Amino acid sequence: MKSQQKCIVIFALVCCFAVLVALIFSAVDVWGEDEDGITEENCNKNCRVVLVENIPEDVTFSENSTAHLTLSAGLHSLLDLAVAGRSVEIVSPQWNLNSSDNESSFLPSSRQGQALLQRLQGLKKKGINLKIASGIIDSVELKSLSRLSEVHYINMTALTKGFLHSSFWVVDRKHIYIGSATMDWRSLSTMKELGIIIYNCSCLALDLHRVFNLYWQLQYKDFVPSIWSKRLSALWNKDENLPLLFNNTKAEVFLSSSPDVFCPKDRTRDLDAISYVIQKAKKFIYISITDYLPLTNRNSHRYWSSIDGMLREALILRNIKVRLLVSCWEQTHPLTFNFVWSLKTLCMELPNCSLEAVSKFFSTREKRDGTLQGINHNRFIVTDSAVYIGNFDWVGNEFMFNAGAGMVISQAEGLKERNSTLVEQVRAAFQRDWYSRHTMSLQANKIPVCNKHQLNQLAHLKITQPPESSGSQESPNGSF
Ligand SMILES: *[C@@H]1O[C@H](CO)[C@@H](O)[C@H](O)[C@H]1NC(C)=O
Ligand SMILES: *[C@@H]1O[C@H](CO)[C@@H](O)[C@H](O)[C@H]1NC(C)=O
Ligand SMILES: *[C@@H]1O[C@H](CO)[C@@H](O)[C@H](O)[C@H]1NC(C)=O
Ligand SMILES: *[C@@H]1O[C@H](CO)[C@@H](O)[C@H](O)[C@H]1NC(C)=O
Ligand SMILES: *[C@@H]1O[C@H](CO)[C@@H](O)[C@H](O)[C@H]1NC(C)=O
Ligand SMILES: *[C@@H]1O[C@H](CO)[C@@H](O)[C@H](O)[C@H]1NC(C)=O
Ligand SMILES: *[C@@H]1O[C@H](CO)[C@@H](O)[C@H](O)[C@H]1NC(C)=O
Ligand SMILES: *[C@@H]1O[C@H](CO)[C@@H](O)[C@H](O)[C@H]1NC(C)=O
Repeated sequence: MKSQQKCIVIFALVCCFAVLVALIFSAVDVWGEDEDGITEENCNKNCRVVLVENIPEDVTFSENSTAHLTLSAGLHSLLDLAVAGRSVEIVSPQWNLNSSDNESSFLPSSRQGQALLQRLQGLKKKGINLKIASGIIDSVELKSLSRLSEVHYINMTALTKGFLHSSFWVVDRKHIYIGSATMDWRSLSTMKELGIIIYNCSCLALDLHRVFNLYWQLQYKDFVPSIWSKRLSALWNKDENLPLLFNNTKAEVFLSSSPDVFCPKDRTRDLDAISYVIQKAKKFIYISITDYLPLTNRNSHRYWSSIDGMLREALILRNIKVRLLVSCWEQTHPLTFNFVWSLKTLCMELPNCSLEAVSKFFSTREKRDGTLQGINHNRFIVTDSAVYIGNFDWVGNEFMFNAGAGMVISQAEGLKERNSTLVEQVRAAFQRDWYSRHTMSLQANKIPVCNKHQLNQLAHLKITQPPESSGSQESPNGSF
């Protein structure tokens, strides 16, 4: 009798233990959605890829330069493919497609934002689920969209004291978009944007969906979990690229994410992805970004050496030719060109060291209040063998505190035709910009003055030495 009781007690304990274990695992394995039976084994690797760009109306290139699919047409093509019962997942730092400010009313192209918004609003009627992950932003439009879709807000302030700068789409878990553009009407009209759309690519879509799902599960959380669900871990990364066919040409691809705390097991960080691309370069590295600033401004200014160091190494130790296309605009930090010049002087008297920098990539219509307008908003790096397309500007804060995603594509040079691979097309787009009349080479030992306040700011910096005591105001875009 006694032993029977013992048995029951032990059985009960075992049951309790089992339930506990199950609970712990379910808590860790947060309800990752069903992945529709698509797995890394049976997913589609035979994909079609297009480069999409938004070129502002007043930016013109020589007539022979190749035109790519417009961003607006590309995004509409993705929505055309969405089918009922499936989902369109979008993450964007901004929601401002329905522009009603004065400036936009004179621009016919500003209607493209409204057209896209209308398409998104119409999805529900067609039985397509629209899912949006967003930072906590004050957007009337997003509020109105939330009636027709699911919106999950992520409190980045609580999580990393940063912002959500990620920008990508996953449609039907088959097709994806990733690039510099955000859900802002300017991205479809007055800003220069570059991104890629990949069709019929469930392998890559599955992995990007996992990045999306990670945001999705952070809704209103005020801490970052120390263990992530297995369903959020990366399927491919820098050590194990995903072999694919892009338009029947071989390519190797992986995704990256930021900040560090948003990278579950095996996910490559954006910085490591950039490092991977720089390390792999044999001949040249072309970089197109808005701001280049190896500093962080959290509490105090600090030198942020990560990318600057990689470039120095590539220039000096490996004799790789580096071209840097940065913008000289209203919000250019006064120290930007000091850092660029320091890279340039590094090459002095070294025969095979070459850093070229070109600035001032913007159209004539620069807005007075300094908002991003008519400006090169590209965020990519392209080399002889690979391209990285991401969501970040190259400013220290971006990588340390903000959420973003990126994609690395490696492709051998096209054998038959020139400019036939995606990497070659991105390179051609860079060359087109580089040699266009919208750029200006840096003059020897001269720091360009990009804005009126610059001189005042420099004076201010001088007064506030040492750096510990200098200003710490932060602007929402993570630059100074
Ligand atoms: C553009 O292409 C045409 C024909 O292919 C050629 O005749 C012309 O010289 C080219 N123009 C430039 C600026 O390269
Ligand atoms: C738009 O323009 C009108 C007339 O020029 C002006 O009164 C109004 O304040 C402007 N609105 C905004 C939001 O700039
Ligand atoms: C877009 O703006 C127009 C006019 O400014 C307004 O009538 C419309 O309701 C807005 N749409 C959304 C979704 O906010
Ligand atoms: C986000 O987190 C911050 C810091 O924890 C908090 O002050 C703020 O109220 C939160 N915002 C929302 C909308 O929950
Ligand atoms: C995707 O693949 C299917 C069949 O595999 C094909 O019918 C369809 O046209 C492809 N779609 C695109 C956008 O390439
Ligand atoms: C520079 O490059 C050329 C050709 O690639 C090579 O022959 C030469 O040795 C290099 N010089 C130095 C100093 O590395
Ligand atoms: C891939 O093929 C499509 C047409 O099917 C074309 O529009 C696109 O430019 C091609 N992409 C590349 C990188 O060649
Ligand atoms: C390839 O791109 C380069 C610019 O990088 C351009 O000069 C060249 O004409 C292009 N070649 C072809 C065949 O399109």
